[in-house]
Amino acid sequence: MIITIDGPAGAGKSTVAKKVAHTLGYEYLDTGALYRAIALYLRDKKVPPVESDEMRTALSNVDIHFEKERIYLDGRDVSAEIRTVEIETIVSSYAKLSMVREKLLEIQRKLGSLGNIVADGRDMGTVVFPEAILKIYLNAELKERAKRRWNDIKASGRDLSLEEVEVQLKKRDEEDSKRKHSPLRVPDGAFVIDSTDLTADQIAERVVELAENVIKSRGDCR
Ligand code: CDP
Repeated sequence: MIITIDGPAGAGKSTVAKKVAHTLGYEYLDTGALYRAIALYLRDKKVPPVESDEMRTALSNVDIHFEKERIYLDGRDVSAEIRTVEIETIVSSYAKLSMVREKLLEIQRKLGSLGNIVADGRDMGTVVFPEAILKIYLNAELKERAKRRWNDIKASGRDLSLEEVEVQLKKRDEEDSKRKHSPLRVPDGAFVIDSTDLTADQIAERVVELAENVIKSRGDCR
């Protein structure tokens, strides 16, 4: 059974998804980490964000997998490296390419077939797992999302102004929403939750309640 959580950057998707997965005993699938890792991989190989034979070959050779919620690229733990501001500025330009998305679609569907999961990203409910039992779209006001991301950045010892973070988030949201292939949008049938004035615990409780109702109603139908 699959629960999807989509939404823009800084809406709280990963915190909520982890809490829900933990409460329900599901696995957590962080698809943003896959896109970040691919961006890191192609940048290191000096493959620019334009579809090419070089990119196709590089993608067919990449080994990317999760182990205990850490992500490995060709056997190397890149969980910290993919969270840098530098990767955040280039990731959307790779994520918009069909070549990249098709490669990751395959990986995500394979991971999704392994058991019960909570998956977060941009196209979980629309494209990757349209059959999900519960779809959530988590949003929050831009200023609040920027403040949250700025606090994370400060906590990791980096120096960036709140205004810079806001500009970057806005640009990434636009790129992710306006692209042709699998743009960020509210999936049909999704529950939309605005997290601006809610804590992650409050949202997770609400999502667990919705999930339990769906699971129960499916059981009742048998
Ligand atoms: O944590 P945050 O919401 O900032 O980003 P993320 O979930 O780690 O995703 C990073 C980037 O990967 C996004 O800005 C998208 O460009 C891309 N992405 C995507 O296109 N589709 C997904 N399912 C997940 C991420």
